[in-house]
Amino acid sequence: MLKRFTISGRMCILFEIEKAMSNIVLIGFMGTGKTTVGQQISKELWMPMVDTDTMVEVDNQMIIGEIFDRYGEDYFRNLETAAVRKVSKFKSHVISTGGGVVLRFENLNLLQENGLLFCLRATPEEIFERIKDESRRPLLKDSDPPNKIRQLLQARQAHYQRIEHQIETTNLSIEEVTNQIIGIYQSARSSP
Ligand code: S3P
Repeated sequence: MLKRFTISGRMCILFEIEKAMSNIVLIGFMGTGKTTVGQQISKELWMPMVDTDTMVEVDNQMIIGEIFDRYGEDYFRNLETAAVRKVSKFKSHVISTGGGVVLRFENLNLLQENGLLFCLRATPEEIFERIKDESRRPLLKDSDPPNKIRQLLQARQAHYQRIEHQIETTNLSIEEVTNQIIGIYQSARSSP
């Protein structure tokens, strides 16, 4: 939002415009609702949405599972950082990220340049319920997916906790999560 300033200064006005054009960046473990919530926010705020996983797939003409199978996780992480670098330059977008984007500090620094970061949270049980019928996630192709979810969450906990805005989604509807995020985003944009 553009504000009236008693002191005249182009820098202040530019800063306000930049803030008004911030991205909403959704971070969180697999199955925490980044895509669904992102689509809802995008619809309500008329902000285009991009997804780093989709960008990796389109840019490389391969689905994530195939990238993992053929080249391994490290290779995927490099492609993911390349996608993050691209989307970080965008303005006024909803950006949905892959669950492991937190594993590199560099990714978070890039996303923070133009964005407000939200971490969606859910219990391991709820995550399993949400994703149990899907087969597209290479890291969950395991003989004991609920246990794998717990292990990965545990290993990544400190990374997720770094994100400024934590949104617990376990007992909330998509609308409730969407409204919380929009509320925080709008008050951040209008704060002095
Ligand atoms: C990953 C999460 C996936 C995808 C890839 C790795 C992870 O994205 O990026 O399979 O490391 O948690 P979603 O969180 O959208 O499932």
